[in-house]
Amino acid sequence: MGADAELGYLPTTAPDVAVNPHPVSKRRKRTAKFLTLLAVLAVAQLLLLPGSPTEQTHPVPQNAASTLARCASLQEVPSPPRDFLKRAASDRFVEGTQAVLIRNAKVWTGGENGTEVLSGDVYLDKGVVKGVGHLGGNLDIQALVAKGKVSIVDAKGAWVTPGIVDPHSHLGDGSSPYMDGASPDDNSRKGPILPWLRSLDGLNTHDDSYPLSIAGGVTTALVLPGSANAIGGQAFTIKLRPTKERSPTSLLVEPPYDILNASASQHGAPLRWRQMKHACGENPSRVYGNSRMDTFWAFREAYNKAREIKNEQDAFCAKAVKGQWTGLGDFPENLQWEALVDVLRGRVRVQTHCYEAVDLDDLIRLSNEFQFPIAAVHHAHEAYLVPDVLKRAYGSTPAVAIFATNARYKREAYRGSEFAARILADNGLKVVMKSDHPVLNSRYLLYEAQQAHYYGLPENLALAAVTSHAAQVIGLDHRVGYLKEGYDADLVVWDSHPLALGATPAQVYIDGIPQIADPQVVHKPSAYQKPPKVPNFDEETAETIKYEGLPPLLPKKAPTDGVLFVNISKIFLPREGTLLEAYATSSVDPDGAVMLVMNGSVQCYGAASDCPHKGAVSEVVEVVGLGGGTIQPGLLSYGSPLGLQEIEAESTTGDGRVFDPLVGPVPKVLGGDDTLIRAVDGLQFAGRSALLAYRAGVTKAITAPSHRGFWAGLGTSFSLGALHKLEEGAVIQEVTALHVAVGHFGRQPSVSTQIAALRKLLLALPDDDDLSISANHFAKVATGKIPIVVEAHSADIIATLILLKKEVEEKTGASIQLTIAGATEAHLLAKELAEAKVGVIFVPSRPFPAVWEQVRVLPGPPLTEESQISLLLAHNVTVGVGVEESWSARNTRFDVAWAAIEAGGRISKLEALALASTNLEKLLGGTAEVALGMPDLVATAGGDLLSFESKVVGVISARRQAVDLF
Ligand SMILES: *[C@@H]1O[C@H](CO)[C@@H](O)[C@H](O)[C@H]1NC(C)=O
Ligand SMILES: *[C@@H]1O[C@H](CO)[C@@H](O)[C@H](O)[C@H]1NC(C)=O
Ligand SMILES: *[C@@H]1O[C@H](CO)[C@@H](O)[C@H](O)[C@H]1NC(C)=O
Ligand SMILES: *[C@@H]1O[C@H](CO)[C@@H](O)[C@H](O)[C@H]1NC(C)=O
Repeated sequence: MGADAELGYLPTTAPDVAVNPHPVSKRRKRTAKFLTLLAVLAVAQLLLLPGSPTEQTHPVPQNAASTLARCASLQEVPSPPRDFLKRAASDRFVEGTQAVLIRNAKVWTGGENGTEVLSGDVYLDKGVVKGVGHLGGNLDIQALVAKGKVSIVDAKGAWVTPGIVDPHSHLGDGSSPYMDGASPDDNSRKGPILPWLRSLDGLNTHDDSYPLSIAGGVTTALVLPGSANAIGGQAFTIKLRPTKERSPTSLLVEPPYDILNASASQHGAPLRWRQMKHACGENPSRVYGNSRMDTFWAFREAYNKAREIKNEQDAFCAKAVKGQWTGLGDFPENLQWEALVDVLRGRVRVQTHCYEAVDLDDLIRLSNEFQFPIAAVHHAHEAYLVPDVLKRAYGSTPAVAIFATNARYKREAYRGSEFAARILADNGLKVVMKSDHPVLNSRYLLYEAQQAHYYGLPENLALAAVTSHAAQVIGLDHRVGYLKEGYDADLVVWDSHPLALGATPAQVYIDGIPQIADPQVVHKPSAYQKPPKVPNFDEETAETIKYEGLPPLLPKKAPTDGVLFVNISKIFLPREGTLLEAYATSSVDPDGAVMLVMNGSVQCYGAASDCPHKGAVSEVVEVVGLGGGTIQPGLLSYGSPLGLQEIEAESTTGDGRVFDPLVGPVPKVLGGDDTLIRAVDGLQFAGRSALLAYRAGVTKAITAPSHRGFWAGLGTSFSLGALHKLEEGAVIQEVTALHVAVGHFGRQPSVSTQIAALRKLLLALPDDDDLSISANHFAKVATGKIPIVVEAHSADIIATLILLKKEVEEKTGASIQLTIAGATEAHLLAKELAEAKVGVIFVPSRPFPAVWEQVRVLPGPPLTEESQISLLLAHNVTVGVGVEESWSARNTRFDVAWAAIEAGGRISKLEALALASTNLEKLLGGTAEVALGMPDLVATAGGDLLSFESKVVGVISARRQAVDLF
């Protein structure tokens, strides 16, 4: 057979699966079609000429044609259908959806490497973008508009981007709220290698997160299995909008055809991408008691199995194509391994959870040993340290899917850097941001891009990182991630520039359908309509590389006793527990104000003439220009184990947990069941999250002893800039308040039991001779001398605590200082909290329904006009904000700024700063600083602490008698 040479089944040459599928496909598609044709002809020839004088005759099986077609199809790799962008309607179009013409928009299209911005219109019809730009001349559109068949939206110059694409989510599989019996559904414990599992099979359509994530502009997400397994299974891409069918299947975007219908053929359409989750490192190790060596052997064993099957298939097809049917049997296949065989055939986008240099190196060797490409490495906290390793990957360089500042939660993440995105981009690697929802709430995935931009990722790449590049990573960039003709009608109209802090959708369209029924749009100042001019972090970035992710962070004291800050635009100072604007530069002094500090104490400030520093300016005074920046109070952090735990998942790096008398006996040597532990006794200083927070203007923290349930202990306040406990001013106040928690905590007895314990402790008047810490401090709480901070989220528990407060007050005649921390549902009791004079600390500052006790969130704009913070402030409740995890302490400045921005002017800058300084301090019993009169101050260059345009350059500490300069 003359065609044999050509037909002879060629084991696939390395499928050149680039991150962008377009360049691959056309030639391959044609080759595949050609092969199919020849194969069919070959069979036809055999059938027609049974006795023909070929060297050998083989009985031709009945299914020969389909077998040969199948063999030919093995050559195919996924690609979008030809002329996809010319489609008239989307396969996801919902009948009855009205066309939409968005006028007067500023459209970031994703084109030209993320630099193309078109002013004009966007026209959406049949679930597809039908035009972008100046569409006034389009007669078809004009006619439809005239007939009233188009809904017209005036964007009034607003920014419009493609919908946000999340390339790593557990939406639906790791559902919220978490339920003991039902979730999470994203990890199987059946073994380290499970390529046959499908995330689709666990996809809950009732996850509370869908509408919340849409409210953040997320339109498409890849739902990955968890990372408990080396090979966790197949992943599926969904759109987040609700469907008429209400099924998981109806959420899918371009699933492989056989997912929908095993007997469905593709009708000549090219293959669609499959997705597969892999994981290296600690997670699969932890679950199966494996070492890294075991995990990689598991990978190699699995891939070897897949390779054997693939080789058998290829050998089978080589014979089939030659007509050597005798004894050939059936096409070799195996349902459990077929997906992994497809990986080897270049038809699967492998998404790999992989952190450290060692893991990345292992993975890239695996990809070369078995010759399969990797779409992206996820988390990949050390990728920026080993870009060349990634470039060695088989086929094409994987993209890197990261968090912006979420790091140090385990060893693998310890070298994670805020500069990673920029460094990776500088090395020519593709960077995308991901949520790992619900690890980060994907509602705020855009915030990840904003932070990456703040720390140096260029604007075009930052936006691409959550749109077009993310779409490339999941193989859907032919239809999502861009705003171009023929793309899916998924877009977001923003209330500000998308890289401006707090950018919030004014409307979100998915498949051309508006998703927010009654959007609450905040009117923002014009400054927010431009991307922020971010500070320069070149030096910090270089240090990060030099020190392999662990640059020295300890503050350096100013070289002189005196420091003169010049060119200050505003000075905000704390006075007796409140904040005031102490000075604002007027047009009289265009050079800005000055502040002279000696040994950490402010000598004078104001116009240069008001602050007689002239004599002092000499070699003994360091002059620091703030470029129109600001002096403001240092912030306070609360809510995370900051100061008690360096690496969350490493018990050896922390203080450990207290005994809980409601769960088990407390050792006698401690003095009994009601022994209170002092957090101050476990303090650790100079941790990386602490120092990074310090460098971001968070100068101190109040931390309660680490606990898992009801019993916490005595909080303490301490400096985040100190090297150790014995340093001057390191511990600010040994005991601040008494902390307990009321809620559902695993083995804990009922909520009512916890309340009963609290009642008994508060009403037990200490014996005169009872000098225990515990009796003393509960008595102090009962008599109003120190606050009690109760962690609680549910409105029902908070209401019970308000009643308990009254009950105890009636008995003691004193008034109790009660603070509720957590407080997700506190907004339901705004009036009652105000009347009872109970303060609230929101932890975290933006709510999420992680557990049942938190389901009744007040989500804020665009879903509700008020946020939980603005609503409680409007009721005159004292409000503070906290963070759940140590890494996020550094972001407090942005959290409080965001609260002010989304309140549309109802929260002033001073009030925003107070949320994480004076208010918070008061709510937590931090009285020492107020007594001192002048707490830590923070100097920012380029703007105030609440802005993406400023950078913290120094901390002025009277307590520590020093100025630290960064
Ligand atoms: C895309 O933009 C980045 C950053 O602005 C730049 O470094 C890169 O060279 C650009 N790529 C192309 C292909 O123009
Ligand atoms: C599955 O696909 C086959 C072949 O295209 C078709 O005949 C059948 O109706 C489909 N079944 C469903 C449930 O869609
Ligand atoms: C103060 O800062 C602004 C903004 O950076 C700058 O334009 C101005 O020149 C500075 N003035 C002095 C006196 O340094
Ligand atoms: C909050 O306090 C302000 C100023 O004291 C007062 O005008 C306002 O009525 C109070 N709001 C509520 C809801 O009590």
